[in-house]
Amino acid sequence: MKLLVTGGAGFIGSNFILYWLKKYPQDKIVNLDKLTYAGNLENLKSIEKNPNYEFVQGDICNPQLVNTLTEKTDTIVHFAAESHVDRSIMDPAPFIKTNIEGTYVLLEAALKYKTKKFHHISTDEVFGALPLNSKEKFNDATPYNPHSPYSASKASSDHLVRSYATTYNLPTTISNCSNNFGPYQFPEKLIPLAITNIIEGKKVPIYGDGLYVRDWLYVEDHCKAIDLILQKGKIGETYLIGGLTEDISNIDIIKKILKIMGKEESQIEFVKDRLGHDRRYAIDWSKINKELG
Ligand SMILES: NC(=O)c1ccc[n+]([C@@H]2O[C@H](COP(=O)([O-])OP(=O)(O)OC[C@H]3O[C@@H](n4cnc5c(N)ncnc54)[C@H](O)[C@@H]3O)[C@@H](O)[C@H]2O)c1
Repeated sequence: MKLLVTGGAGFIGSNFILYWLKKYPQDKIVNLDKLTYAGNLENLKSIEKNPNYEFVQGDICNPQLVNTLTEKTDTIVHFAAESHVDRSIMDPAPFIKTNIEGTYVLLEAALKYKTKKFHHISTDEVFGALPLNSKEKFNDATPYNPHSPYSASKASSDHLVRSYATTYNLPTTISNCSNNFGPYQFPEKLIPLAITNIIEGKKVPIYGDGLYVRDWLYVEDHCKAIDLILQKGKIGETYLIGGLTEDISNIDIIKKILKIMGKEESQIEFVKDRLGHDRRYAIDWSKINKELG
């Protein structure tokens, strides 16, 4: 396979590239990444000289560049995005540009150069929020109800991808995953921010009452799930990828991290809540489990 991976210098993209080249060393990967604040080539230092790996610094919103790279690859795995909800609340513009227009540019290129498979990485946040203490979970039939500019831009990109599948028969798949954790995550998200603050002896900020529930997915498990979709996924399908079966609140996660690192809970600092903060996400991942193993 010749893969065009977008956003491969970011958290999940870099884990995916390392995973893929280890498992399929004969495949070729072109990594297109703009290197925003979230992109870090240090993540990929170990493979930078691999002859089957090429890095291109550039913007997915640039059609000429995207066309050139799409022409020489056969599969697109699309991670590139503005990904932080808080930043989208402060300034939605780059989210609209990269997440919606960037996806459109990639879809047009995929159509033009007859890409064999276009896999789009999305989020469970497109489904909105579930009530706390309920047993409800998101599945691929859950109606879209995004609440932040980030999730609304990801929802728009999902709809665009589906429209290219139904209108132009573009061979697409989509996955909506929960919160990832693991190596190389930029320390603005809950877990890496907590760990770096603890190491630096700073307070660990928790939004509102801390009773927010997320599903947590280890990033390498996510990469394995994307691998399954690329190998066996049904064209046109959406797969939800999650990691947990039981709820755990953000405050309990932070307490666990403090305990593991031998620190006191007094290091927790409750801060003003995020605007429109979704209470609970939970994922029913039985479909990918049953259908793809
Ligand atoms: N991290 C999570 O927990 C999570 C959960 C659900 C879904 N997702 C989705 O997974 C994907 C990857 O997330 P992540 O956490 O690795 O994000 P990230 O913010 O760590 O990395 C994003 C990467 O995209 C690049 N990028 C941004 N704009 C670009 C542009 N215009 N052109 C080219 N490259 C650009 C950045 O430089 C960066 O390397 C995103 O689509 C995100 O919506 C992430």
